[in-house]
Amino acid sequence: MEKLQEKIMADGKVLSDSVLKVDSFLNHQIDPVLMQAIGEEFASRFSGEGITKILTLESSGIAPAMMTGLVLGVPAVFARKRKSLTLVDRLYTASVHSFTKNETNDISVSRDFIDETDVVLVIDDFLANGQAALGLIDIVEQAGAALGGVGIVIEKGFQEGGAMLRNRGVRVESLAIISSLANGKVEFLEEEKA
Ligand code: G4P
Ligand code: NA
Ligand code: NA
Repeated sequence: MEKLQEKIMADGKVLSDSVLKVDSFLNHQIDPVLMQAIGEEFASRFSGEGITKILTLESSGIAPAMMTGLVLGVPAVFARKRKSLTLVDRLYTASVHSFTKNETNDISVSRDFIDETDVVLVIDDFLANGQAALGLIDIVEQAGAALGGVGIVIEKGFQEGGAMLRNRGVRVESLAIISSLANGKVEFLEEEKA
């Protein structure tokens, strides 16, 4: 997605060979116009899948998930990382291990919002090692729902998550795939036009 690549080039900050900071439009301040275009792009890529629900993980997945839900006309559900006061039982839960932070956290979704009639599109802001996506897919499976695919805003193609998910037969659509962050420079994997 050209608009996204341009935004990453203009406003992204390479923090190290493996971390890209995009606080000015995705992870802290949010660019609603870009986010709307992102929602339109995901909606168009997954339009043939019969999606009934979007599933993401708080917090940074919520904006792209909501915009995609708006365009597809379906609800967006976000898995919670912390136990909520009102969310105490009837939960699907999964453990997500972060290699970056070296910690494992439980994520949870109420059984009220995903069930076996759903076709779920998993959306997230970043794909690195794929552990967050795996946790969300685990919840889709617990619900007995179908997985329509995984939509990622920025995939770090030099980390293993994308290959791991695609090897499992999951349809992964990433709007920007970064092949390298070496030497402070962002390089993209060129998209193959269908
Ligand atoms: P994984 O799920 O693919 O295995 O990723 P990992 O554990 O490495 O990611 C932990 C957190 O860091 C996630 O956000 C993920 O989106 C984010 N992340 C991973 N790589 C990058 C990167 O290069 N740049 C930025 N900006 N973020 C990255 P989170 O902790 O769930 O936070 P949030 O959703 O509240 O923002
Ligand atoms: Na994040
Ligand atoms: Na995230």
